[in-house]
Amino acid sequence: MRILVTGGAGFVGSHLVRRLLGHGHVVVNFDALRYSGNPDNLTDVAGHARYAFVQGDICDAEAVAQALKEHRIEAVVNCAAETHVDRSILDPSMFAKTDVVGTGILLEEARKAGIQRYLQVSTDEVYGSIDSGHSREEDLLAPRSPYAASKAGGDLLTLSYWTTYRFPVLVTRGSNTYGPNQYPEKFIPLFVTNAIDDQPLPLYGDGRNRRDWLSVFDHCAAIEHVLAHGEPGTVYNVGGGNERENIAVADALLRHLKKATSLIRLVQDRPGHDRRYAVDCGRLRKLGWEPTVEFEEGLRATVDWYQTHQAWWRKIKSGEFRVYYEQMYRQRLNLATRAGDDNSPQAPTTAWRIR
Ligand code: DAU
Repeated sequence: MRILVTGGAGFVGSHLVRRLLGHGHVVVNFDALRYSGNPDNLTDVAGHARYAFVQGDICDAEAVAQALKEHRIEAVVNCAAETHVDRSILDPSMFAKTDVVGTGILLEEARKAGIQRYLQVSTDEVYGSIDSGHSREEDLLAPRSPYAASKAGGDLLTLSYWTTYRFPVLVTRGSNTYGPNQYPEKFIPLFVTNAIDDQPLPLYGDGRNRRDWLSVFDHCAAIEHVLAHGEPGTVYNVGGGNERENIAVADALLRHLKKATSLIRLVQDRPGHDRRYAVDCGRLRKLGWEPTVEFEEGLRATVDWYQTHQAWWRKIKSGEFRVYYEQMYRQRLNLATRAGDDNSPQAPTTAWRIR
């Protein structure tokens, strides 16, 4: 197929572009190249005969229409989004713009262009925090951060295009994704790169929030599978089946790096921090997908990648990121305690106390 991947220079997007090219598709990467869109993610495919890059914003209807027409696009995968919860707390405005308005513009231009398949890449965060059990696709949405709420808005708009126009949309809701090329504002790459430099690891709250970790390779396989085989108008959950407390992930990555757990600092929590996400992936398994990357192995490979690709992340960390990091973490780290410190107001239970 001739596929437009929006946000193709980002983390999930760039892995998806590479995968689709590998499977014989023509791929047009449409990316605004804002802070986390990074051409360095795709240097290996830049000259590929079936690959084209268009710098553009999904909020720009004309640019979208032009790219769809000029490249005779048949399918669209929307990976373009503002994705970081902490940034959505600092400044929510761009989130509603890109994740809701941008999605609406992309949908409308895709519908007008007669696109055959439209896939919206979404998130398990739209279900909100759940203490037990697993969220299913039909559950009510209960997003709690400006990021999750914006993504929920984008999902609902997308699904309305099936109900109203019978425009063949699909939605995937992925869990916490990790792997190479992830912008180091996210938990795993931030902690790995800080640890390599012997810098403190700012662990929010009591460190016991839980996430289900999904390899970016499994996530992209799921997106490709749903694009090819999914039922129009349907949502598919994508989870790795690797639910872990944050403290356990921090411990594991420090172990791989042979660094001391004393680098961990318990810092002031994220406002509205969701305690746990977990999704039921039965529908997608029935469609023929299942995760293949075992978490310990995937984490080890990811840690190795950041160790061997320091030029990639050092360039990022020395730029815009520094201002963001100072704003997010300086005060938190000044007030922080070491995990396991009995004087900590958030002292952990003995089950995971770090000595
Ligand atoms: O669940 C899927 C979602 O996962 C994606 O839709 C989002 O785009 C992605 O950002 C991610 O959201 P989270 O908020 O779960 O990811 P993040 O990497 O920011 O945080 C993971 C966990 O680690 C969360 O419980 C907060 C915690 N954390 C994070 C950071 C950045 C810390 O303790 N310290 C930190 O410095």
